[in-house]
Amino acid sequence: MNKTGFDARYQKYLEAIEDYLSGLFAEKPHWADLYDAMRYSLLSGGKRLRPVLTLEFARLAGEEGFDWYDAMPAACAVEMVHTYSLIHDDLPCMDNDDLRRGKPTNHKVYGETLAVLAGDALQPAAYELILERVPGTRERLACALLLAEASGPDGMVAGQVLDTLHHPSTEAELAEVHRLKTGCMIRAACVMGCAAADASAEMREAACTYAEKLGLAFQIRDDMLDVMGNQAEFGKPIGSDAEQGKCTYVGILGLEECERRVLSLTEEAKAALEKVEWHGSTAFLRMLADSLAVRTH
Ligand code: IPE
Ligand code: IPE
Ligand code: MG
Ligand code: MG
Ligand code: MG
Repeated sequence: MNKTGFDARYQKYLEAIEDYLSGLFAEKPHWADLYDAMRYSLLSGGKRLRPVLTLEFARLAGEEGFDWYDAMPAACAVEMVHTYSLIHDDLPCMDNDDLRRGKPTNHKVYGETLAVLAGDALQPAAYELILERVPGTRERLACALLLAEASGPDGMVAGQVLDTLHHPSTEAELAEVHRLKTGCMIRAACVMGCAAADASAEMREAACTYAEKLGLAFQIRDDMLDVMGNQAEFGKPIGSDAEQGKCTYVGILGLEECERRVLSLTEEAKAALEKVEWHGSTAFLRMLADSLAVRTH
């Protein structure tokens, strides 16, 4: 696959995801302010990395005749939980950030109360989507459980607690924070794609390893961009971690070592894919990992 092929597939997924998401919460009950706040963050762009991963893993894991679009409710459910985590992450009681995806953060536009509630509402709405729309009982239950585990008290929320309240300071402590706050959701996105396609245990295992390596590389790169990024491109404030007194990979290892780690984790992620035979080429996932290693947003 060349760069044009990669871009075309990413764009195809992106358009399908945007289209699906914009069909959600479009009606206007008299609590439309809640729907507006949910849609503001849900439709504010973003890379859509997690749903793209779900769709591509579904495509690769599905037997002949399986349609990757069947994984769309699962993919968009991951994006909804991710979006809720970002709305809450930006609140004054958390990272206290004013800019997200190049726009004012949810609480800056709608106020803290509605921002909290919009985040709250996105979570059950995500499970509703999975439980109503993922084809197949086994598939939908597996997806719901994976998402609940990844985002719950032993997943993303645990990472947020450690990150904001427990003051991690060693590399091992920070690795745990990154695995929980970011890695878990990226892993769920990958494995939910496998689950939606009823993939083999070997495929799920390979997807897990790819995601774990990619997830850590992704958050290290996020820490780097918080220092060396360009705000207009990154779409988030630069220097937010330092301002909050956060311990990050850059603080512990320095930028150069971070860059080396990101590149070696990326190689490990790609290598994990080759452990099993998929129902298609892994080129897209390998190119995706490479592009994330040097991302600027
Ligand atoms: C931001 O995630 C939160 C982190 C885990 C670093 P993304 O960088 O995927 O944010 P969007 O969805 O593209 O805005
Ligand atoms: C993100 O960590 C973790 C989440 C679960 C949202 P960060 O706090 O570093 O993410 P950004 O930099 O605000 O996107
Ligand atoms: Mg944070
Ligand atoms: Mg933050
Ligand atoms: Mg960050």
